[in-house]
Amino acid sequence: MLEDIKTQDKTYTMHTYKKFDAAFTKGKGATLTGTDGRTFIDFAAGIGTSSLGYGDKEWVRAVCEQAEKYAHCSNLYYNPVMSQLAEKLCKKTGMSRVFFCNSGAEANEGAIKTARKYAFDKYGKDSDRNIIITIKDSFHGRTVTTLSATGQDVFHDKFFPFTEGFIYCEPDEKNLKKIIDKHVCAVMIECIQGEGGVNILSEEFIRAVRRICDENDILMIVDEVQTGVGRTGKFLCIENFGINPDIITLAKGLGGGLPIGAFLVSDKCKETLLYSDHGSTFGGNPVVCAGANVVVDKVADKKFLENIVQKGEYLKAKLLQIPEITNIRGLGLMIGADLKTKTAAEVASECVNKGLLILTAKKSLRFLPPLVISKEEIDKGIEILTEVLK
Ligand SMILES: Cc1ncc(COP(=O)(O)O)c(C=O)c1O
Repeated sequence: MLEDIKTQDKTYTMHTYKKFDAAFTKGKGATLTGTDGRTFIDFAAGIGTSSLGYGDKEWVRAVCEQAEKYAHCSNLYYNPVMSQLAEKLCKKTGMSRVFFCNSGAEANEGAIKTARKYAFDKYGKDSDRNIIITIKDSFHGRTVTTLSATGQDVFHDKFFPFTEGFIYCEPDEKNLKKIIDKHVCAVMIECIQGEGGVNILSEEFIRAVRRICDENDILMIVDEVQTGVGRTGKFLCIENFGINPDIITLAKGLGGGLPIGAFLVSDKCKETLLYSDHGSTFGGNPVVCAGANVVVDKVADKKFLENIVQKGEYLKAKLLQIPEITNIRGLGLMIGADLKTKTAAEVASECVNKGLLILTAKKSLRFLPPLVISKEEIDKGIEILTEVLK
């Protein structure tokens, strides 16, 4: 069966992904069942998206009930499922307004547009205040503009011309200060760079970004596409650093497995994007928002968040016991680990063959399990990983 699926996939879909040898029929918690009946422990959660794992009863019910009522109506009409989600997100994060879209890249596009429009409104077109500083090794998406925003040279090839107006900065205060001038309208960071290798930016730097942005009326954008909605044991990762950004982007885990993106703005820029400045046909889709409402209700719970921290510590302690693994880092259930001798890509592929789904980030292994993973599932996954790393 898997062979037939592979043939069909290879014949009819673009070969833009290197795929592991697995396809699934169903899932429960953090365990998936393959087409051949084998089970797989999931340390990847669809790259951080299936936050409530598979088959969460309330999530499934909310999505199915909404699909039965009506699936979509467009943003030409009021949509109470979306406005309810917006209210929850604003109240939980202290932000003022939300725009919903369909992916992380789109959320970042919206943040970039907001930052440029804020400067345009306040300083005028002739000010040329449109530069956005991003961080080396960051990742912000696959559209032409978010590839430009991404601070990795490897992504700045093949698709010329790229969107102009991005400068890449090492994550330290001195470098940032050197680059800042009157043409800069925003600084965009990930508190923990996910695709870039699970690199945690220092609290000192993150606070410096906030201070420098305040001093220069520059907007601080925090890309929480991977780190947001409970992933690090706080609702937002930025809470670990005690500051408030002007714009926050979310996606991945917010939908619990359905496509959603969102950018949230503070009071300062809540009137920046107005009628006709932005739009999205499917943004705020009721079925997707019905699922996201359940995700936010569950993840915003204090006990749920504490549990993520505990399970993250448990997983880290288990990883520490594997001799091949070194340099374990991360917060909550977003963890990176280096390997002494083996390559991460080979290890990931061997793990899949033995029943464990695991991610890589550059040369590191990356762990982004469903937030509901049980200790038993962690144990089973670690058993497989230990075997592979022998
Ligand atoms: C930090 C960050 N920003 C943006 C994106 C792009 O999100 P999407 O693939 O939903 O467009 C990703 C995806 O991995 C991400 O990790």
